[in-house]
Amino acid sequence: MTKAIQIEGLCVQYDDLTVLEDINLQLDEKEFLGIIGPNGSGKTTLLKTLTGIIKPSKGNIKVFGKLIDSNPGMVGYVPQYSSFEESFPISVYDVVKMGLINKKRVDKSIIEDALKHVELLDIKHKLVGELSGGQKQRVLIARALVSDPKILLLDEPTSSIDPKTGKSVYSLLNKLNETTTIILVSHDIGAISSYVKKIACLNKTLIFHDSKEITAEMLEETYECPVDLIAHGLPHRILNEHKH
Ligand SMILES: Nc1ncnc2c1ncn2[C@@H]1O[C@H](COP(=O)(O)OP(=O)(O)OP(=O)(O)O)[C@@H](O)[C@H]1O
Ligand SMILES: [Mg+2]
Repeated sequence: MTKAIQIEGLCVQYDDLTVLEDINLQLDEKEFLGIIGPNGSGKTTLLKTLTGIIKPSKGNIKVFGKLIDSNPGMVGYVPQYSSFEESFPISVYDVVKMGLINKKRVDKSIIEDALKHVELLDIKHKLVGELSGGQKQRVLIARALVSDPKILLLDEPTSSIDPKTGKSVYSLLNKLNETTTIILVSHDIGAISSYVKKIACLNKTLIFHDSKEITAEMLEETYECPVDLIAHGLPHRILNEHKH
């Protein structure tokens, strides 16, 4: 079966700084992968490379068997920081419409469907600068959804929102996952482990065992600090004992 995502020998550099080194990953369709890793470990860079915004210095990425450059529109991206200008007078509807920027024809019903999906249709005329953090986050998800992507990438989608709204974002993602392959980056190991199907750790290199298990070794290697600190409070089922 063709893989939804196939990453081979991927390296990414910013000038002299190597941020990602020899990343290899294969994901099937409708997979839901969570990626954890410390600040500056390359998580955002990896997602941006998967969208094609950043070009690799080595290796390649295929989406449904084709190199990403020749397969536009397959990937929807929800960025880590919203770039909304607080004082810029743009409506919820218009931000979501921006997700169709590469399409020749703009179909109003597609935009309204995406807004309905994230439960924002009622406030489509509101200015984004007037929204709460959780509402803004959902606007960004709707913007990524309008182009009907096969793959959805989300960078810390719940970092600025309360646990209840966070839960509603995760249940939305679980619903979307019925038809969409999802990669989610988050620092919230607890939340991530209850919703995703697979977990990978990133710190320049990617540690991925094709399972939902995080071992003490994976955390130690990724975070380069005592595992107890990181593992504290983790649901036991995803944390294996040290084997040696
Ligand atoms: N546009 C850029 N130009 C130069 N260096 C960059 C650029 N973007 C990121 N970096 C550097 O690349 C490294 C990885 O950054 P990245 O944003 O991918 O990390 P991250 O894992 O997403 O971190 P965080 O958890 O803080 O969001 C960092 O050292 C960062 O300073
Ligand atoms: Mg980041």
